[in-house]
Parts: sequence; structure tokens; C-alpha cells
Amino acid sequence: MMPNSKTNITKPAIIKAAKGPSPLAQKVVSGKYLQGCRQMLSLACGIALDEAFMADHCDINILGVDQDDEILADAKKKETDRLTFMKHDVTQPFPLTGSFDCIYSRNLLHYFNTSQQQHILSQVYSLLKPKGLFIFQLKAKADYFYVDPDIKRIKQSDGMIYFPSMGYSRNHLDEGEVEELLTAGKFVIEELFVTTEYLYKDSHKSTLINCFAGR
Ligand SMILES: C[S@@+](CC[C@H](N)C(=O)[O-])C[C@H]1O[C@@H](n2cnc3c(N)ncnc32)[C@H](O)[C@@H]1O
Repeated sequence: MMPNSKTNITKPAIIKAAKGPSPLAQKVVSGKYLQGCRQMLSLACGIALDEAFMADHCDINILGVDQDDEILADAKKKETDRLTFMKHDVTQPFPLTGSFDCIYSRNLLHYFNTSQQQHILSQVYSLLKPKGLFIFQLKAKADYFYVDPDIKRIKQSDGMIYFPSMGYSRNHLDEGEVEELLTAGKFVIEELFVTTEYLYKDSHKSTLINCFAGR
């Protein structure tokens, strides 16, 4: 049986294997992208390695949200006055009012089908201040998981790809599809680039699309 989106997540043990801030967070800090930003929302913060790094190096308050209790408990060990956490499922309406200068989302969007991605983007748009920045990373269609001839894949009716060997589905995008999604969501792309990185305990490098988009 193919999973629904609720069961379609990476296991906490894998996420907890991450060590240190990602290259994306390092670029955000070294490139001073958060200058003038005071409030950041991080969607699916995981154990908050990137968020702790950004809160340490930039003058910013960060609210990290994630739907997984076990992961959030780990993230909360890093809690400070400027780095706080809340349980939230990003497919549901955001429970707080207010707006953010920046919304960060690393390795979340490829969990969802196109209509769910569009819904999340519309929430991001309404939660961002005018001229706010949406920074995200997601897995690309050029990723080995999508191209390795030895990995079995089944296309689902909602367009997602089911991987029987892993027991989950993904919706990797190519650069054109990311552009289409953002343009339809009224975002303006400022930077879009592809990187390859080892994620968590993976034995292969993942191919990732990174994007900085303005509201
Ligand atoms: C691959 S991890 C990425 C974590 C972190 N952003 C990072 O880059 O290491 C994906 C995270 O998304 C969270 N997640 C998955 N579906 C979610 C949802 N619907 N709402 C909130 N968080 C979700 C998982 O609990 C997990 O922490």
C-alpha cells in the first residue's frame, strides 16, 4: 500500500544524525541575507541546527515549527530567548497572527504533491511581510533517487513518486517547476541554484535546488 502524506516523512533517527549547519545556512549568514530582518519563521526546523546557527550569528528572533514531537524535544534543547519552537503541521492553517521578515524551509517541500506545495506557498506568502524573503531548499529531479536505474519507482495518481524500497513518496522538482511554482505564488526569484551535498547519514550526495525568493 502507498502511504498518505502523514506517513510520508523522514524518520527522527535519520534527522538527528545531522551534524552542524548546512551550506545553505552558512551562505545565509556569510552573505548577510538577514540584515534588517528581525523575525524568522522556520518551517519543519528538524533539530534546528541551521536555526541555532543563524540565531547565534544574526540579530534575529527565530520561531521553528515541526510536527514531530520527538524531533521538537531535541530542538528545544537549543531554545533561547531568540530561538523558540512550536508544534505545527505545515499543511494546516498557521495558528498565530503576525508576520515575518523571512521564512526558511530546508528539505520540506519535496514531501508534498503539487497542490499541497501550492497551499504551503500561499501560506508562506500571507505570513511574509511585503518585501520579505523566502529561503528554501528541496530535492531536485536530478537527484540520484530519481535517476538511478536500480531504484524502483512508481508514479502515483497525484504525481508523486513512490519508492517501494524506502516505503515513502516524494515530489522532487526541476528548476523550471520551482520557477513555475514561485511565479504562480506571486514570488520574485532572486537566486536559484543547484548544489550537491551529503544529507544526514546518506551514502550518496543529494542534488538540491536552493532558492531565495522575494514577496
Ligand atoms: C528532512 S527533515 C528537515 C529538517 C531540517 N529542516 C533540516 O534541514 O535538517 C524534514 C522535517 O520535516 C518535518 N515535517 C514533515 N512533514 C511536516 C509537516 N506536515 N509539518 C511540519 N513539519 C513536517 C519532519 O518532522 C522533519 O523534521
